[in-house]
Amino acid sequence: MRPILKWAGGKRALVGEITGLFPRDYGERRFHEPFFGGGAVFFHIEPRGGSINDINPRLMNFYRVVRDRPRELIEEARRYRYDEDEYYRLRDRFNLEGLTEVEEAALLLYLNKTAYNGLYRVNSRGEFNVPFGRYRNPTIVDEDGILRASRLLRNVELRSGDFSYVIDAAEEGDLCYLDPPYHPASETANFTDYSESGFSLADQERLRDLCVDLDGKGVLFVLSNSDTEAVRRLYQGIDGFRMIPLRTRRAISSKVASRDSGYDLLITNIR
Ligand SMILES: C[S@@+](CC[C@H](N)C(=O)[O-])C[C@H]1O[C@@H](n2cnc3c(N)ncnc32)[C@H](O)[C@@H]1O
Repeated sequence: MRPILKWAGGKRALVGEITGLFPRDYGERRFHEPFFGGGAVFFHIEPRGGSINDINPRLMNFYRVVRDRPRELIEEARRYRYDEDEYYRLRDRFNLEGLTEVEEAALLLYLNKTAYNGLYRVNSRGEFNVPFGRYRNPTIVDEDGILRASRLLRNVELRSGDFSYVIDAAEEGDLCYLDPPYHPASETANFTDYSESGFSLADQERLRDLCVDLDGKGVLFVLSNSDTEAVRRLYQGIDGFRMIPLRTRRAISSKVASRDSGYDLLITNIR
């Protein structure tokens, strides 16, 4: 199935290339996605077990509510109208403390479908600050999609924290798809703020070390990142790892793309 949220860096367009690297019996294996976002790969393969995680706690609250209380979520979100004044009123509400889990999830769904470009962006105080987006008749509540996602999510463990948990969660023979915030093209490139915490080069190194450990445990992984010198340097020369450059350009600003950085690189230990 398709993801139920739009997410910056969403991998719907690359699902074929990514799952093409998986072993043929991937449907039988436990699957882990520690940088979940919109979870395009998870929803595509519809795994029967494993774990999902994202450092954004409001995002993971959303999926938990989808899993455990889908009817209440649908009912709550159906009360919200697509209208500019209503948007700003609900955006303010989303930034208040003390919301119920269902209300917070319903507001996140509404904002995801009506915010400019479907972006999720917060300011330094952690307040969601994306302006109203203009759409023709946007679907805010896709009931069938939510109910289907709810059934799928029952199979997996939901977490919200740093990606490093996966070294303990994954067992030999499991499959893991890692999609971190991409390393930027240059130090000055203005890259997307996925959450309150940025993802530094030190985090990219920590992630590379985790891949080495996963490999040591016999866990199969595919990782995606930007095709840049820095990323290639991180992964080159590791026994059993290979890099697969993709030729399709990502939809990013032409200013950044012109530095030859608009391409994705997949890294995997699957033969
Ligand atoms: C490129 S997006 C993933 C997109 C996803 N594959 C999809 O198809 O929609 C990267 C995600 O990593 C999350 N993230 C950032 N730092 C993290 C960390 N240290 N641990 C876990 N998740 C993190 C962000 O919140 C963001 O949702």
